[in-house]
Amino acid sequence: MFIADLVPSNPLPWQNFPMDSTTYFRIRLSTIRPDKVTSFDIYILVDGKHILYLRAGDKLASGKIKTLHGRDTGDSFFVRIEDKQTYRDWVKEEMNSDLLNPFDKAKILRESSVALMEDLFENPDVNKALDESRPIITDFIDLMENAPEAMGFMISLSGHDFYTYNHSLDVSIYSLGLGKALGYDAKTLEELGVGALFHDIGKRSVSLDILCKKGGLTDAEWEQMKMHPQYGLVIMNNHPNISDAIKAACFEHHESWAGNGYPQQLVAEEIHPFARIVAITDTYDAMTTQRSYNVPMTPMDAVAMMKEKLAGRYDPDMLKAMYSVLFKIKVA
Ligand SMILES: [Fe+2]
Ligand SMILES: [Fe+2]
Repeated sequence: MFIADLVPSNPLPWQNFPMDSTTYFRIRLSTIRPDKVTSFDIYILVDGKHILYLRAGDKLASGKIKTLHGRDTGDSFFVRIEDKQTYRDWVKEEMNSDLLNPFDKAKILRESSVALMEDLFENPDVNKALDESRPIITDFIDLMENAPEAMGFMISLSGHDFYTYNHSLDVSIYSLGLGKALGYDAKTLEELGVGALFHDIGKRSVSLDILCKKGGLTDAEWEQMKMHPQYGLVIMNNHPNISDAIKAACFEHHESWAGNGYPQQLVAEEIHPFARIVAITDTYDAMTTQRSYNVPMTPMDAVAMMKEKLAGRYDPDMLKAMYSVLFKIKVA
C-alpha cells in the first residue's frame, strides 16, 4: 500500500474558520499599542459581517483599548488579507521600537503570530505557507538574540485559545531554544523553526471528530491519529522545494531513540536531529499544556517524567540540553 492511499479523499480542515476567511484574517487587539497610529484598517465582526472599526491613520486611545480587551476572545478583530504585509511591517517596527520592553515585545510577537498561524495552516499552498512563516521564525530568533529573557515570556503567554496553533508555536519556540543550546547557526535555526512549526501539519488530514474528541480515543481512532506523520509527508511531497530536514521534522517526530516509535521504528541517530529535537519539545509542550483530556503537569514533573519513566525515548545529549533551556526560561 502506498502512503497516498491512506489519505482520506476529502481531508477536513482542522479548525472551523470564519466566513470571509479569504479576505480577512484575525488579529489580537493586544498587538495594537494604544495611541500609535495604525497603518491598516481594523474590522470587527457583527452578525457575521465585517464592519470597519478603525481606519488606517487613526489610533486607539488607551481607555478604549482597555474596554475592548474585555471583548477580545480571539475572534473579534480582523484585518484585510491585502494588508497582511503592512500588518507584519507594523509588528516588525514594534519589535525594533525603543519604547517597548522585552515583555511587551514578546507579547506582541506572540499574539501576532497566532493570528498569522491560522492563515498559514489553512493555506492550501504549503510552499507559500512555509515561506510566509520564515519571517515569523526570524522575528523569534532576533528577539531571542536581543533579549534572551523574552523566550520565557513568549511561552508563558500561550494557552488561552486555538490549541493547535499555540502548540505549534510553542514547539517551534522551544525547538529554537534547544537548537541554540546545541550551537546551531542562524540558517539552521531558521530551518529548524519552520520544521517545528509545521511538524503536525498532517493533522489537517485527520478527522476533526478525532482531533477534538474529549476523553480517550478508541483503538481505531488512535490508529488514524498516528497516521499524521505520513499524512504530513504526503502534503509536503506534493510541494517542491521543501527541504529534507523540514520533512524529517514532520515525518520522524514520533520516532523514539530506543527504536519503538512510529511510523518507521528508526533507532537513535537514524532519526534526523530536527525530529529528535521536536520529539522532546513536542512531548514537553503536550505534558505542560492544558488539553481537553488531561491536567497539565508542572515543568518539574514533566522533565522528571521524561528523564525517568520515558528514559530511552529521547537523544540523551539533547534531553540534557533541554534542561538548560528550561532552566533559562524559569530564571527569566
Ligand atoms: Fe505529532
Ligand atoms: Fe505535536
